Amino acid sequence: MHILDLSLYNFRNYAQQTLRLSRGVNIFVGENGQGKTNLLEAVYYLAFGNTFRGNKEMELINWQQDYFRVMAQLKKDTSSRLFELEIYSDRQRNKQIKINGVKYKRNSALLGYLQVVLFSPEDLKIVKGSPTDRRRYIDREICQLDGRYYTLLHQYQKVLQQRNNLLKDIHYKKIAKDQLIVWNKQLVNFGSQIISQRLAFLKILVPIARRLQKQLTDGQENLNVTYQSSLGAIGKLSQEEIAGLYEQILKENESLEINRGVTLWGPHRDDLIFYFNDRELKIYGSQGQQRTNILALKLAELETFYHHNGEYPLLLLDDVMSELDDSRRQFLLQTIDKQQIQTIITGANLDLLSEKMAHNEIFIVKEGKIIN
Ligand SMILES: Nc1ncnc2c1ncn2[C@@H]1O[C@H](COP(=O)(O)OP(=O)(O)O)[C@@H](O)[C@H]1O
Ligand SMILES: [Mg+2]
Repeated sequence: MHILDLSLYNFRNYAQQTLRLSRGVNIFVGENGQGKTNLLEAVYYLAFGNTFRGNKEMELINWQQDYFRVMAQLKKDTSSRLFELEIYSDRQRNKQIKINGVKYKRNSALLGYLQVVLFSPEDLKIVKGSPTDRRRYIDREICQLDGRYYTLLHQYQKVLQQRNNLLKDIHYKKIAKDQLIVWNKQLVNFGSQIISQRLAFLKILVPIARRLQKQLTDGQENLNVTYQSSLGAIGKLSQEEIAGLYEQILKENESLEINRGVTLWGPHRDDLIFYFNDRELKIYGSQGQQRTNILALKLAELETFYHHNGEYPLLLLDDVMSELDDSRRQFLLQTIDKQQIQTIITGANLDLLSEKMAHNEIFIVKEGKIIN
């Protein structure tokens, strides 16, 4: 897939910007604070309806304005038609998503159109950050592949919240605990589906990432990613078996959870563990090794999306070229070139970026304006 035209109105430091992107590599060069990441953020926003920076939507509106609008014209390899994506958002919290002119309220409507793989310096958090960072990472990727997963996450969150309230009420207000069974059933139902989907995603992603990691390190490094579940060893279990185990754990630990007033088991407590050569990457890996692992992971995502959708997503590379060494950078650029992946690269230094690549376009970013 690729974006043909992109328009931003009052989005962060952009007043009004329209762009025609190249089918191949689009390079945006500029000094710090000029709007490079803001541009990628706009593209990402069109894919998810929210931002990767964890900001509130309000912060995306240009300081001098009351609303913003972003638009893109998307061409999929798998369809002959064009897709028009548009999102409007204002300070009164009105938000409107339009896809081919049809209005939607929910962000989930966007899933399934524009898919992106983003690689930014922040992604080191996938290895070094908290379990929440890793859960957010895997959940976002699965949402892009399957919009129903997004709904599932919401359903689980709602049940979790209600169940936690109930646990507190049983503990503090001494209300009867018969209702707990109903919530357990739902928690187990949604929770076991989430865990199964995460396992299924890793089953495809990890072998590809392992192969790429070997290639990136001349066969020196073995990458592995395992799913660490609060439920215990579940790697080989079916969804029904996971559900059975989950239900049993909740039953056995009922009084503990009531005492604590919080749900202690389930996908909201799970984590991913990264290994290089059987050692934990978070603890023993150098910054360089961690970065290479993330690169392998991101490249593996491109392949996973391709297997799933029959086409590559957009690749967004925010300021990462200068942090990769020569051979990794070459590997990345060759992959992009060979697979003809539409890519947006940002950086401060043109030398690192403009290796001899076909169909590339160079843009200069300065104070919220882009010059071709
Ligand atoms: N809501 C906003 N309205 C106007 N300017 C903003 C807004 N949010 C951020 N900015 C400005 O955007 C710039 C940061 O842009 P960014 O894309 O992160 O820079 P870089 O080119 O270094 O990636 C800063 O100068 C910041 O002041
Ligand atoms: Mg930036």
